[in-house]
Amino acid sequence: MINVIFVCLGNICRSPLGEGVFRELVREKGWSDLFHIDSAGTARYHVGKAPDPGSRKVAKQHGFSIDEQRARQFLPGDLGQWDYVIAMDASNRRNIEKLGQMVKGELFLLREFDVVEKGGDVPDPWSQGDAAFLESYQIIRRSCEELLNYIAEKHHLT
Ligand code: 4NP
Repeated sequence: MINVIFVCLGNICRSPLGEGVFRELVREKGWSDLFHIDSAGTARYHVGKAPDPGSRKVAKQHGFSIDEQRARQFLPGDLGQWDYVIAMDASNRRNIEKLGQMVKGELFLLREFDVVEKGGDVPDPWSQGDAAFLESYQIIRRSCEELLNYIAEKHHLT
């Protein structure tokens, strides 16, 4: 199993989209049985909640649903559970690092895989309008495509 988790602050806006987009890309390749995909937030404000309506809407507009997801917190125990921990922004990454050393796997910023503008933050659309959610979605989508290429190459998936 290849274990991939997307991490943001609240786990209601960006990382649910990361999880949903990546799950779709993996499904399109026929690799669903090979992957365990999840998302979490470094904060616990929204634990148990469904994704933000803005994220749910932009997902639906692009042909998939994230309505069944529920927010959970990224905990120290996660550091040993995942092959790829994918942070949405630099502050999420620092929050993960503060929990301790990664016991297993690699920690990346999602936009290290962005071919348009490499290495920055996925902007936080929380409490903003549809345009902000669309922009975050587009960044997440193109970055997840490259992330999957990277993982597929490492694991010799064809
Ligand atoms: P997310 O967005 O980290 O992409 O889920 C946020 C959601 C909630 C808050 C901040 C960011 N908040 O401060 O409650």
